[in-house]
Amino acid sequence: MQSSALRTSQIFGALFSLLLLNAGAVPQLIQPGELWPDDRGQHIQAHGGGILKVGDTYYWFGEERSRGLNPTYRYVSCYSSTNLAQWTFRKHALKVYDPEHFHAGWILERPKVFYNAKTKKFVMYMHVDDEGYKLARVGVAVSDTVDGDYQWVKSFRPLGHESRDIGQFVDDDGTAYLIFEDRPFGFRIVKLSDDYLDVEKEMCLIPMHMEGGAVVHYQGLYYAIGSALTGWNANPNKYATAKSLEGPWSEFKDIAPPEKNTFGAQSTMMVKVVGTKATTVIFMGDIWKPATQWDSRYLWMPLEIGDGKLALPEPKPWTLDVVTGEAVIQK
Ligand code: DGJ
Repeated sequence: MQSSALRTSQIFGALFSLLLLNAGAVPQLIQPGELWPDDRGQHIQAHGGGILKVGDTYYWFGEERSRGLNPTYRYVSCYSSTNLAQWTFRKHALKVYDPEHFHAGWILERPKVFYNAKTKKFVMYMHVDDEGYKLARVGVAVSDTVDGDYQWVKSFRPLGHESRDIGQFVDDDGTAYLIFEDRPFGFRIVKLSDDYLDVEKEMCLIPMHMEGGAVVHYQGLYYAIGSALTGWNANPNKYATAKSLEGPWSEFKDIAPPEKNTFGAQSTMMVKVVGTKATTVIFMGDIWKPATQWDSRYLWMPLEIGDGKLALPEPKPWTLDVVTGEAVIQK
């Protein structure tokens, strides 16, 4: 016969397990500007990044800028999550040694991954450059699986234009677009070819000198955001709207009070989470620390968006329920 002490401990054990199970369902805090530990307890290294959703899983790709990496390689990290708050390090999805003899100090920035349903390939685009940012090309790498190993394909200038910061946009109908900064002219949005290995058609040139380009399609309107060209320093990011990607685009307006300089961040993507009760559009930005790049932080906040207006609220810890789509910002 069991002693009552044993029974009591079993009951407490069961209750504790239940609590743990529930904790898994409780939305986890996203804390803008803080260290963001992955499943290993290490600060996430996915700078200038982008998100791709495959099934119920989100994959976050970005620049790996840890200390102690082999400096002859460039790395793109891949993390996965089912709630956009807790991230598991998958691997370095791309690890590449100067693939086209760019230069010893060559640069790989802002990787973004598309899934091509026709070829069943994952296609990674990235900005590749020499140390002086004069090459201004996009690089392309492909993989059969989402988290790599991505194999280098080529680099090129999209439709012959200079291309530095790139952004990714997949419309609600599945069409894939690349956004890039073409320094002499502005900000271009281009449609990818059928296999995504090339650029097929220019949708528009927005004659604004903007980096960190991102687009979202929300309630029948396209919203484009970008930052000014101030290197690693924050500036007031701006947005414009259009009924069609071809434009005409509205005037650009500040996404936050201009004196706040986007709360120290620079845009990299907008992520639309469509839930059963709400749709949340997340501003994904980087808080760069140029002297200690490995410590650069992230500013993710749900945007106030609709009726042609877009605003980045003051950063505060918040939670997101990816099933309902509801975001709750802490008071
Ligand atoms: C701003 C860009 O957005 C970054 O990706 C990076 O290229 C820095 N400039 C370099 O100064």
